[in-house]
Amino acid sequence: MQYFDDDAPQVAKIRRRRFDDQLNDPQTRSGRLTEAERERLARVREDAYTAAQELPPGADRWSTWVDAAQGPHPRPDWLVVDAAAVDTELGVLKTGKEADVFVIERGVPGGERCLLAAKRYRSGEHRMFHRDAGYLEGRQMRRSRENRAIANRTEFGRNLIAEQWAVAEFAALSRLWSVGAPVPYPVQRDGTEVLLEFLGDADRQGSPRLAQARPGPVELREFWAQLVAALELFAAHGFTHGDLSAYNILVHDGQLVLIDLPQVVDLIANPAGAEYLARDVANIARWFTARGLSEQVTDPGALTAHLVGIAGLG
Ligand SMILES: Nc1ncnc2c1ncn2[C@@H]1O[C@H](COP(=O)(O)OP(=O)(O)OP(=O)(O)O)[C@@H](O)[C@H]1O
Ligand SMILES: [Mg+2]
Repeated sequence: MQYFDDDAPQVAKIRRRRFDDQLNDPQTRSGRLTEAERERLARVREDAYTAAQELPPGADRWSTWVDAAQGPHPRPDWLVVDAAAVDTELGVLKTGKEADVFVIERGVPGGERCLLAAKRYRSGEHRMFHRDAGYLEGRQMRRSRENRAIANRTEFGRNLIAEQWAVAEFAALSRLWSVGAPVPYPVQRDGTEVLLEFLGDADRQGSPRLAQARPGPVELREFWAQLVAALELFAAHGFTHGDLSAYNILVHDGQLVLIDLPQVVDLIANPAGAEYLARDVANIARWFTARGLSEQVTDPGALTAHLVGIAGLG
């Protein structure tokens, strides 16, 4: 009894080994049945591969959501996160020296879909980024290979710079969106591309820049109030836009939305923070004054002092 009990696992092991050997034996594997099975599996794999490669007509790529750095929670309910979704480029919103912005639709064929703005930072040789110098000076890159590449502006280095801008803008938007600031929802960042909530109408027309708006006196005051509230919120969390102008504000459904934030200034960490804040305020106050808002209302000195106080810099 004792003998059999002890031996049982041993027997099982031997049996298993014989079975494994059979599977690995080329003679057996090329036997008729196994050969046919192998062919069948190869066909199945091939079909799956072909299916995986074949985008639905018109689509440009599979959704890049799964592999991207993803936006903050809670995620808006309109956002399509299905891995089976495809991205289709619908048109160009703006091409620029630093980045190009496209409208894309992300959708599951026959299912849910949403519109996104794709901001793609340029890394091309002729790209001029007026914000590079100041920003890169203050940045410590971890690896010296990357430092050298950036300093020498090799292709690799230029691509890194572009990606750093995308990273910076995505981080700023994520932070600001999370505290309720009027900025587009940052959907994802993948390489040099940032996907944003598309601000526009149902006809896929992008919302106009404030610079193009011709508000009447009442709306102008309303816009000013919205802007001050936004700047207060930015300041309360230690930020100023850094490149604020009527071109970097969109008017979406009567609401001002601040965009273009890669150079956002950290008021506490940046020794020139208060100067950037004063410059942002002066720039935008000038636009409102030019549109007819009284200088008593727009008083940039007073607003700057107010925001400096909120930020705790005063
Ligand atoms: N989320 C968005 N929804 C709709 N339109 C957008 C969005 N983001 C950007 N745009 C459009 O693309 C334009 C350029 O965007 P942004 O200012 O972020 O990029 P930029 O390359 O820095 O441009 P610029 O050099 O003109 O400042 C905006 O003026 C606006 O018209
Ligand atoms: Mg801009």
